[in-house]
Amino acid sequence: MLLSYLRERLRLTGTKYGCGGGGCGACTVMVSRYQPSTKTILHYSANACLLPVCQLQGAAVTTVEGIGNTKTRVHPVQERIAKAHGSQCGFCTPGMVMSMYTLLRNKPQPNMEDITEALGGNLCRCTGYRPIVDGCKTFSQESNCCQANGNGAGCCLNGDSSPQRSENLPPQLFDQEDLLPLDPTQDLIFPPELIVRQQDYQLFRGDRMVWVSPVSLEELIQLKTSHPQAPLVMGNTNIGPDIKFKGAWHPIIISPTRVQELFKVTKTPQGVCIGAGCSLSVVKALLEGLVQEIPEEKTEIYRSLLQQLGNLGGQQIRNVATIGGNIVSAYPNSDLNPVFAAGNCILNVASKRGRQEILLNKDFFVGFGKTSLKPDEVVLSVFIPVSRQGEFMRAFRQAPRKENALATVTTGMRVMFTEGSSVVKELSIYYGGVGPCTVSATKTCAAVIGRKWDEQTLSEAYTQLLDEISLSPSHPGGQVEFRRSLTLSLLFKFNLQMLHKLWEMVWTGSCSLFMKDYPCCHKNVWFFFQAVVKDQSGDDPVGRPIMHRSAISQATGEAVYCDDIPKMEGELHLVLVTSTRPHAKILDIDISEALQVPGVVDVITSKDIPGKKFRTFTGIDEDILAQNEVSCVGHMVCAVVADTRNQAKRGAAVVKIGYEDLPGPVFTVEEAIEKQSFFLPKRMIEQGNVDEAFDKVDHIYEGAIRLGGQEHFYMETQSMVVVPSGEERELKVYLSCQHPTYAQESIAETLGIPSNRVSCHVKRVGGAFGGKVTKTSIIACITSVAAWKTGRAVRCVLERGEDMLITGARHPVLGKHKVGFMNNGRIMAADLHYYANSGNTADESLLVIEKILLHLDNAYNVPNLRGRSVACKTNLPSNTAFRGFGVPQSMLVTENMINDVAMMLGCNAEEVRGKINMYKEVSLTHYKFEFDPKNLLRCWDECKEKSDYDRRRKSIGQFNQQNRWKKRGMATIPIKYGIAFSDGFLNQAASLVHIYKDGSVLVSHGGTEMGQGIHTKMQQVASRELHIPASLIHITETNTSAVPNTCPSAASFGTDANGMAVKDACETLYQRLEPVRKQNPEGTWQIWVNSAFIQKISLSATGYYRGHDLHMDWEKQEGQPYAYYTYGACCSEVEVDCLTGDYRTVRTDIVMDIGRSINPSVDIGQIEGAFIQGLGLYTMEELKFSPSGVLYTRGPSQYKIPAVCDIPLQFNVYLLSGSDNPHAIYSSKGIGEPVLFLGSSVFFAIKDAVAASRVEAGMVGPFTLDSPATPERTCLACNTPFTQKVRPQKKNCRPLQIWFILGSHFQTPEGIKFIYTNNSTQV
Ligand SMILES: Cc1cc2nc3c(=O)[nH]c(=O)nc-3n(C[C@H](O)[C@H](O)[C@H](O)COP(=O)(O)OP(=O)(O)OC[C@H]3O[C@@H](n4cnc5c(N)ncnc54)[C@H](O)[C@@H]3O)c2cc1C
Ligand code: FES
Ligand code: FES
Repeated sequence: MLLSYLRERLRLTGTKYGCGGGGCGACTVMVSRYQPSTKTILHYSANACLLPVCQLQGAAVTTVEGIGNTKTRVHPVQERIAKAHGSQCGFCTPGMVMSMYTLLRNKPQPNMEDITEALGGNLCRCTGYRPIVDGCKTFSQESNCCQANGNGAGCCLNGDSSPQRSENLPPQLFDQEDLLPLDPTQDLIFPPELIVRQQDYQLFRGDRMVWVSPVSLEELIQLKTSHPQAPLVMGNTNIGPDIKFKGAWHPIIISPTRVQELFKVTKTPQGVCIGAGCSLSVVKALLEGLVQEIPEEKTEIYRSLLQQLGNLGGQQIRNVATIGGNIVSAYPNSDLNPVFAAGNCILNVASKRGRQEILLNKDFFVGFGKTSLKPDEVVLSVFIPVSRQGEFMRAFRQAPRKENALATVTTGMRVMFTEGSSVVKELSIYYGGVGPCTVSATKTCAAVIGRKWDEQTLSEAYTQLLDEISLSPSHPGGQVEFRRSLTLSLLFKFNLQMLHKLWEMVWTGSCSLFMKDYPCCHKNVWFFFQAVVKDQSGDDPVGRPIMHRSAISQATGEAVYCDDIPKMEGELHLVLVTSTRPHAKILDIDISEALQVPGVVDVITSKDIPGKKFRTFTGIDEDILAQNEVSCVGHMVCAVVADTRNQAKRGAAVVKIGYEDLPGPVFTVEEAIEKQSFFLPKRMIEQGNVDEAFDKVDHIYEGAIRLGGQEHFYMETQSMVVVPSGEERELKVYLSCQHPTYAQESIAETLGIPSNRVSCHVKRVGGAFGGKVTKTSIIACITSVAAWKTGRAVRCVLERGEDMLITGARHPVLGKHKVGFMNNGRIMAADLHYYANSGNTADESLLVIEKILLHLDNAYNVPNLRGRSVACKTNLPSNTAFRGFGVPQSMLVTENMINDVAMMLGCNAEEVRGKINMYKEVSLTHYKFEFDPKNLLRCWDECKEKSDYDRRRKSIGQFNQQNRWKKRGMATIPIKYGIAFSDGFLNQAASLVHIYKDGSVLVSHGGTEMGQGIHTKMQQVASRELHIPASLIHITETNTSAVPNTCPSAASFGTDANGMAVKDACETLYQRLEPVRKQNPEGTWQIWVNSAFIQKISLSATGYYRGHDLHMDWEKQEGQPYAYYTYGACCSEVEVDCLTGDYRTVRTDIVMDIGRSINPSVDIGQIEGAFIQGLGLYTMEELKFSPSGVLYTRGPSQYKIPAVCDIPLQFNVYLLSGSDNPHAIYSSKGIGEPVLFLGSSVFFAIKDAVAASRVEAGMVGPFTLDSPATPERTCLACNTPFTQKVRPQKKNCRPLQIWFILGSHFQTPEGIKFIYTNNSTQV
């Protein structure tokens, strides 16, 4: 594929690997081709990971390196995304840049819709997208609101401006005046030599396959006749992932992308005939043109197709995926096929036997990925008719994410009414996602045809449909009730729209039944942060919104990540072999076949480890490589090293491990509780007397909530290169991790050598979020053993699927509460139980369950409060730290309890939260730590005020009264988050600062740069302390040889600790320079530094910070586990479509107390990024396992993190003014983790909207909504007449373990094959 060619052959490493399957956009490049028919150049963005190099004959490929760099000229797109603070870890940035660059090549002045469409196929895990969009928006001519009114209501564009007002405008995060102009004349020109049309037949022969590219249709048909089984590779978006992820292999591949007949478009009065080779983007543009050109009533089918095309895949996929490929791939949830089928479209097909027309209907789709086409037939084109008088068509889809996600259920529905009446003449309904292929609701249609379109007919149709589209409980992908209910509710949506039409046409009058979707445009965002004081020196950067110091190099692709390090001489690649059994004894490991694979050098097993074979976390051992037993699918057993990654993969595939299954694997917390399978100790904390208090309260309520796990999905997968130096047993380790000292110690112990022989180097990390502490160190140990044994450099870069399988996630939690409260909502007693699913090893689980208990009070003063938590030992991959470290789970249970209290009392949850139960004055927490909640209350009050809570609450009530199928909900959530490590010894840091004779300064410190901007902040600190411009200061990589014994960059404490250490070293140096300054007060920094050197004053200093001595005594249940609290509050409003469970976050307002921000742009970036990650946790991201513990969600196709379509339409962030914090550097506060929990405001807003829907069904009072509140859960909880019709399926599988299938067949590691047959699954 082009990606590996660029990265490995051409050494163009700006294009990144994020998933390898077209799902993340990290590898986006621009492809340009000459179009002989129009004599124009077509530019389009594409995923390099799916682009076969053989297919690029005649194409020009532009990578991020090609458009600008820091040595010559940075391109405006690169500059603006960087300056708008749109690059944090930067791993996604080159892909974002290329998507935007391609848009600008095609449309230099795009509108917001163009921008969000262009970025729709690019994922970012750090920023929350807003700053990326902001940077891109500077190219748009669409007017920008001046944000003159903080609540978003006022705007200069509405005549709301006055000179006075603009003077009072708050400081901005970046200066729009100071941006390079877009100058298209500077763009690379298309190489003229490529304008010559390539006519020749091509054949590429590789070791294992032949690639043939015909030019004429005759050649193509001839080839297909001789090789009927050979696939036609067009966009490669189906064949590519099949080869990569399912091991499909084709000895011959035919690539007909130069056969002109496949690209012909013919317009006739009857319809349009579109060449099968046209990309979906071309089809979209064509249909958009036709919709403008021809009368509206003729465009029903075209508009339905456009509806689907708008959300199908990302832009990069649509640019290459072809219409013919989509039809022939025959995915069960294809978005287009139900529309083609319902719309009576016709395929033109050719073969040696001649040409024929095939109606695209139920007879065409015969099974999973199968059509009635003969193997030697080629689809030439598809004919899409214009719609006739009285004919209407609609398409709907429901997907786990609004954009760039395969649909759960998708449909095309067409009706034709007898002229002048509501009698149905024709009806055609097709669904995707409810069977092995696109299915027709033939019987339902037959039952309606000839009858009037009215309530009675439709009511019978729902019953018929329910009977006709019946899914077996083991339907692939699960979600049976949801899918069934969607088939009904989507028909209902169609009904609403047809009634609307009938009112217009037949019954005359107007109908208000149909509700339009919330308009998707993004309103402006509003920030408030405090400007620096007026007398602060202009050279002092502290408190200013300084750009991330590597943002420009990240945007140009020059920033070096671990896998960008050039290949070393003799370097080997390591691929891990993991267990296919959840719990089994290892009988033997047969590596003989693997060693025969060409290129394979060795296979590393536990026996090869020269030193300690296990790691010990919180007193519990964990094997580095499984020795005798495996305890989860994904457990690392051995590792194959070979000359290339592909050879290592081939070797890994033939390692044979003999297992003897052990009885009774445990997967869920319920099973763990039943079998008492725990990591000990359990934890408990209590204040007051909970049991007694329950006797005195007005009400008691018991409830529970489940919170699923969360995959880190850092964009850069686990990566490392271990290089033996060849003498004195020294190793250099380059890795992407948060805790290089821990990696160093682990490697040294594993190899049985002293730590002083191992140096770990971290330049930057492409996202970590807690997932690159323990897990990275274990993989680094294995890689080091391989390097040790072979004496050669070894590189290990996990593929996305391996990473997701092996490295664990956030702990899923089952939380139970019993709450006692008074009539006014005052909570007098609460008893909470937390069960965390730790997986197969303890890792940091015992610390996680402690933090859960330390945060269970959140912002509330509950006089009698008890919490118990336990880490459940199960046979799932071991879970680990994740941003928030248990707090997001802990507080969700608490807030759910508060919600239940409010629902019991029939009042707003905000009343129960704020007025009644929140800490009000200096108080003791349940661990007897005194604090002042003043700023918590300020955040709460300001949030309610800024969000205009009271007014909007009323208007939501009105909206909900007026709308039956759409409901709005709102929730305001507070947070009190403890900062620092409760293990006191971790609160320390060191630094090393050198001043060179030319006055330049080099700073090393213990923190790792993971996108959180720590290096930028350290540069600001050094600049202030040394009184020199930041430009003189360079921050070097994190290196255990420069700064030893560092602590992890975690717990939101990196800046607090390392900032103080850098400050300390700089103060020392500044004082040392005092005598030379005095000698020459008029001198400059360079002169003083030179004089100091001549006077033999040391220009190098270490800095040290002995942080807070924190502790927690679990025996006494008291302590001071945190240095201080970061406070905040967040109000979110959503609109839920009760028929599908889809929701949109209409507005979010966040007020955070982060003291005096050192860098408001970095801190606001952390706030937004964490909020969106929290929104993902609580509303979308779902890990799915098979009943036997196999993780199925192993890539962006199956696991959905928020994309640009998920940002709140209005997103306001305010930093609380006038807040001081004596406990941290420059009065700032840690902010990396706390806001993640505030994403739950969206969850509770959804719950609020669902409650409004349930009222319509006569259901009031508390109800269970587990997290994440996916469309499925939301829709089922709404309790509409359609969900009620879907009788609960008999559950014969475990609740958490739903299996999920994307391909035509899926071979589980256990060797069980799931194969589609008609409407059922064979196992
Ligand atoms: C990340 C991602 C997201 C996606 N999201 C969606 C989505 O939301 N909705 C949706 O509907 N689809 C989605 N898809 C599927 C995508 O639309 C299809 O894979 C695509 O349309 C197939 O077209 P292609 O040109 O890439 O086919 P290829 O992979 O090149 O070929 C696919 C198959 O079609 C056959 N074929 C191709 N052209 C012809 C022809 N002219 N005659 C006969 N046989 C032919 C080939 O032999 C092969 O078997 C997604 C895919 C990816 C990778
Ligand atoms: S790496 Fe190509 S899309 Fe993810
Ligand atoms: S900045 Fe986008 S993934 Fe890190």
